Amino acid sequence: MNETTVFKPCDLVIFGALGDLSRRKLLISLYRLEKANLIEADTRIIGIDRHEGDNSEFIGIIHESLQEFLNEIIDEQVWARFSARFAYLKIDLTRMDQYQLLNTLIDGQFRVMVNYFAVAPFLFTNICQGLAQCGVLNEESRMVMEKPIGHDLKSSKAINDAVAEVFNEKQVYRIDHYLGKETVLNLLALRFANSIFTTNWDHNTIDHVQITVAEEVGIEGRWDYFDKTGQLRDMLQNHLLQILTFVAMEPPVNLEAQSIHNEKIKVLAALRPITKENVELKTVRGLYSAGEIKGKPVPGYLEEVGANTESTTESFVALKVAIDNWRWAGVPFYLRTGKRMAYKRTEIVVNFKQLPHNIFKESFDDLPSNKLIIHLQPNEGVEIQILNKIPGIDENIKLQKTKLDLSFSDTFKNSKIFGGYEKLVLEAMRGNPTLFLSREEIEQAWTWIDSIQDAWAHADVAPKPYPAGTWGPEAADELIARDGRVWEE
Ligand code: BG6
Repeated sequence: MNETTVFKPCDLVIFGALGDLSRRKLLISLYRLEKANLIEADTRIIGIDRHEGDNSEFIGIIHESLQEFLNEIIDEQVWARFSARFAYLKIDLTRMDQYQLLNTLIDGQFRVMVNYFAVAPFLFTNICQGLAQCGVLNEESRMVMEKPIGHDLKSSKAINDAVAEVFNEKQVYRIDHYLGKETVLNLLALRFANSIFTTNWDHNTIDHVQITVAEEVGIEGRWDYFDKTGQLRDMLQNHLLQILTFVAMEPPVNLEAQSIHNEKIKVLAALRPITKENVELKTVRGLYSAGEIKGKPVPGYLEEVGANTESTTESFVALKVAIDNWRWAGVPFYLRTGKRMAYKRTEIVVNFKQLPHNIFKESFDDLPSNKLIIHLQPNEGVEIQILNKIPGIDENIKLQKTKLDLSFSDTFKNSKIFGGYEKLVLEAMRGNPTLFLSREEIEQAWTWIDSIQDAWAHADVAPKPYPAGTWGPEAADELIARDGRVWEE
């Protein structure tokens, strides 16, 4: 089957086409899809922004963005194909009368209208109303939006309500770019296509799970947004909880979006709330001070450009999470994520239980347990740590820790690994909602995150400092050490 011809073409309408998200990520991903011949021939890309300009100026700006952010030389043939898809409309998104301009371009019969909201959420309501009023939408139309979808349950509901007045739930594609990452999807394959894992995936065999999303970057000029948000809402509410649901969910009936959403919601609903009584034991907030990343000095959070020196926002969070259901009773999930950590690393470590009896005392007083390590980034891959006999004719059997290592780039040499955005933008154009978030999922995640945010506020938990370039405050090590465990380094 030829992937380029089976789907109906789209009018991909990007609201905020000249903004950061569009120029840095979206259009770069679209170019890569173009290069891979994955965009339907008749699909058009319509940029909407408030700046004066015509098609050729828009094309010029996109060319400059590619030069700046693509990290490879622009292929002129691909560019010719890509740029021929573009059209630009200047619309002030707060002016309802201006949306009529869309009628000059959109052809809902031949193409599906996919509206990508690459703007701040306060404009979502305006866009929805503008689209409804000008009459360009039909049942096939879709809308795509990204986090932040609110900063708590209440504000998230307000956004979802405004969207629901115009689009039904099936038309709404909420992006979490981690769900486009190859290794997150591979969790489905690993767990549900391999009997060694399906039958060894619960409290009987697993001791605990660690999920680490360590970032090297700091605030990157986003101080204002980040300071109102913090690492808990910026990273944990979405990316880490999504990873957790894929690790913890029950087998879905099939790979349909609804079946997967149902299972993820059950996991989110089973997360034990964190309360002001136990928040100090179950959570750690951190804030980076000046330090070094890869040998280069970097400023502390409070010294970043534009910083409010009184800020108490966290740039690091570690949690001990309990999932109150049959499968995971008594199995803690330790989650940590931070900015300005030693290096970029996203991984899941599934620690299996220790064996009840050790007959290899010569080698280990305490037999190390098996681990399944899933590297999400960089260097996607899966590793299993096992014990092996060291070859030799010694009188005693000597063991050594070894690993079965499957690196995606080595194993799948002929397959291109696409980034999360590419995958998700393509799926939105194809109309496949499996990798997007349902409203219920987002609201369930906020309910739990709000419990932590409230507990922090009630117990007045201030962030603990950690030098940039380290693995977070010592309290994060203590959190896991209290259970006799250590973070995987
Ligand atoms: C975004 C956050 O969602 O994810 C950023 O807003 C963060 O603060 C980024 O840096 C991390 O994404 P990735 O794909 O680089 O891990």
